[in-house]
Amino acid sequence: MGEEFTVNPYEVKGVVDYDRLIKHFGVEKISSDLLKRLQKYTKLLHPMLRRKVFFAHRDFSWILDEYDKGNKFFLYTGRAPSGSMHIGHALPMLFTKWLQDVFNCDLWLQIDDEEKFLLKPEMTFEQSQEFLQDNLVDIVALGFNPKKTHILIDTQHAGLMYKEACKVAKKLTFSMVRSSFGFTEQTNVGSLFYTSMQAVPAFLPSVIAKKEIPCLIPHAIDQDPHFRLTRDILPKLGHYKPASIQCSFLPPLTGAEGKMSSSSGEQAILLTDTPEAVKKKINKYAFSGGKDTLEEHRKLGGNPDIDVSFQYLKYLFEEDDKKLAKIEGDYRSGKLLSGELKAIAIEKINSFLKEHQKKREKAKKEVGKFIYNP
Ligand code: TRP
Repeated sequence: MGEEFTVNPYEVKGVVDYDRLIKHFGVEKISSDLLKRLQKYTKLLHPMLRRKVFFAHRDFSWILDEYDKGNKFFLYTGRAPSGSMHIGHALPMLFTKWLQDVFNCDLWLQIDDEEKFLLKPEMTFEQSQEFLQDNLVDIVALGFNPKKTHILIDTQHAGLMYKEACKVAKKLTFSMVRSSFGFTEQTNVGSLFYTSMQAVPAFLPSVIAKKEIPCLIPHAIDQDPHFRLTRDILPKLGHYKPASIQCSFLPPLTGAEGKMSSSSGEQAILLTDTPEAVKKKINKYAFSGGKDTLEEHRKLGGNPDIDVSFQYLKYLFEEDDKKLAKIEGDYRSGKLLSGELKAIAIEKINSFLKEHQKKREKAKKEVGKFIYNP
């Protein structure tokens, strides 16, 4: 993919050119016609659709065609425990919750608690199990429908999943995974197998129901290689190809390159951060699109497109389009200063986190209700 950027499930590097990525991956841009069609099911489109945070898809129109015929789909998303969850992880999950509410559908949520163990040399199994418990609380706290959400934990639901994964693995060759993920002859065989597990929730509900149910997968674009392979293989096993919808990456605090990552805690805003920590992180690290001096800023204005605090408001924390447009306009004109913009972002992020952390306490007792129990 050119030298300047890399996007795959195991590496996101450089400044991502999303238009080139669309072509390279072969996903489709979400068109205004598709958005109009979606509006028939919901009065207001989710801000992440209005703002093109979710920007691409595969076969989403087919999902709606089937839905219109009375063939309702289920949702599938997931999380590999690799550390504490941050606001970037919440992004596709919150959108998934919205889809679940709008279409009142089942959600299958995979916790692939073996993936990071297999792929990250330094990760022990015990660590991934600790993160698993902690991440489950965050996920449940995001508010999914307890009656319609089924969590699959790879190592705990292995009895159910492994047989199906083997059927996928039999059709998946070394050369297919090598080119999709940048693997080499030195890559461990667990990593080579892993995509077979991530494919399973896309058709397991159909196996359980003994009838084919369409599947829609909301995910960040880096996961697409798994699902491209899944789509190649499932028809060979007599299943539908899963449809998918992709979002771009929440920028890391330092700016436009790569994505927010929890491996360096200081560079990500965790869902469990205190108000003081958020304030410090934004003030100290959040890349600013403002000018160097007050006079210059007043005269020339700031650039919200590269300003991380503004991007966080746009991606997640200011749902009101009018308010967001006012902030954007004031910042561009120089009326709003960098420090003032940061203060708005800090306030918004902290009020979201305060609510989330309250829900987190309640969620601790509710996790059990969400784990799939055949
Ligand atoms: N592998 C993903 C990760 O690293 C987690 C995941 C599993 C997932 N199944 C998924 C993400 C389906 C989106 C959709 O975090």
